[in-house]
Order: sequence, then C-alpha cells, then structure tokens
Amino acid sequence: MTLIDQRVVVLGGTSGIGLATAARAAREGAQVVVASRNQRSVDRALTTLPTTAQGYVANLTDPDAVSRLFHDLGSFDHLVYTAGEPLALMSVDALDCRRPTPPARW
Ligand SMILES: NC(=O)c1ccc[n+]([C@@H]2O[C@H](COP(=O)([O-])OP(=O)(O)OC[C@H]3O[C@@H](n4cnc5c(N)ncnc54)[C@H](OP(=O)(O)O)[C@@H]3O)[C@@H](O)[C@H]2O)c1
Repeated sequence: MTLIDQRVVVLGGTSGIGLATAARAAREGAQVVVASRNQRSVDRALTTLPTTAQGYVANLTDPDAVSRLFHDLGSFDHLVYTAGEPLALMSVDALDCRRPTPPARW
C-alpha cells in the first residue's frame, strides 16, 4: 500500500492510536493532518511527525468547531477518527454482567 501524495486527516491524532496511525501513514508517504482539543497536544504531536504534517485545534463535541475545522482543512483523501476518552479499565468485580431485560419484541 502506498499513501504517496495522499492527504490523511486524523481526528484525535495527537496521541495514542491516532498518533500511531498518523505516524504510520506518514511513513507510507502521506501528508498527515492531526487534530485535537488542545494546542499543547497538537504541538507535541507535530514534534514527532515529519515537518510536512499539519495540526489543528478543535473540540469535536462542538458543532461550530467541527464546521470551522472542515472549512479550514480544505481537501483530503482519507479521514480517520480516533478521538475519544481513554478506556475506563476497571476490576472485573466492578462490572455488572447481568443480561439486560430484553424489550417486548426483539
Ligand atoms: N488504546 C486502546 O487499547 C483502545 C482500545 C479500544 C478502544 N479504544 C478507544 O479508542 C479511542 C482512542 O484511544 P487512545 O488510546 O488512542 O486514546 P488517547 O491516547 O487518549 O487519544 C485520544 C485522542 O483524541 C483526542 N480527543 C479526545 N477528545 C476529543 C475531543 N472532544 N475533540 C478533539 N479531540 C479529542 C485527544 O487529544 P486532546 O486531549 O488534545 O483533545 C487524543 O488526541 C478511545 O475512545 C478509546 O476508548 C482504545
């Protein structure tokens, strides 16, 4: 697979899975764009990516911010979405594994 001359946007691309995806895409020749909520995350991520990478700050829970982001981004070839809260890992004892009551009709 080659991503040469492809523009890859990774929403949530400033850490974890998103940053790893952006780094891998860049290694495959893509021009990558990472976006997340805070400037410091974006700046830190950009230090680990090729100089062709771009970063944007946007809170994806804010519809206006999302509109602005897509307006500012311009065109792209691939969109990756990995923005989310970290996994809430907990003890198995804390899980409620009872089967939920099914609705009247499945
Ligand atoms: N890591 C795993 O093994 C694993 C496994 C299964 C599922 N997941 C799920 O996959 C998702 C990503 O996991 P991860 O480990 O890569 O998490 P992560 O390292 O916390 O990365 C989340 C990314 O999303 C950004 N982000 C979060 N909320 C945002 C918002 N409202 N607007 C814009 N950007 C936002 C964060 O940056 P800012 O904080 O700067 O906004 C960060 O760049 C999570 O939902 C996680 O629950 C992870």
